Amino acid sequence: MSVTERTYIMVKPDGVQRGIVGDIISRFEKRGFKLSALKLVHATPEHLEQHYIDLKGKPFFPGLIKYMASGPVVAMVWTGLDAVKTGRVMLGATNPLASSPGTIRGDYALAVGRNICHGSDSVENAEKEIQLWFPEGVVQYTNDNEKWVF
Ligand code: TYD
Repeated sequence: MSVTERTYIMVKPDGVQRGIVGDIISRFEKRGFKLSALKLVHATPEHLEQHYIDLKGKPFFPGLIKYMASGPVVAMVWTGLDAVKTGRVMLGATNPLASSPGTIRGDYALAVGRNICHGSDSVENAEKEIQLWFPEGVVQYTNDNEKWVF
């Protein structure tokens, strides 16, 4: 059964530098997800290490943190039906060479170490990531917010 979820989506520094932010936002909007939080942030290595804590010890970890800290990222929360799983499908496979055309990575990336975007891989991790990137909280929609949507 499909349920309304929140997912954490992030445009990585290469996506920001290459001007793909608008397209990624547009894809999530057009698919029908609701934007619940958005900010541009140049994260510290310590913050990024926390985000990728499960990968600590992997050989690519130091390079991953350096790349992620090399420039600002766009941090977002999107809400909607099956947002976590559907968000991952929209991103494409981790290695862009295996990503289907039509996905974000499949359309814009070639290298696993420069794969444009991040998306939470489980509801549990999404909630952790939302807390890490938006400790100030995110927008909660009510029916009143939706009176302009038909
Ligand atoms: P991972 O969480 O496995 O993938 P995903 O981002 O699809 O959830 O890995 C996190 C990031 O680490 C991945 O987006 C790119 C980088 N990475 C590498 O640079 N080399 C690798 O071999 C892997 C598996 C990941």
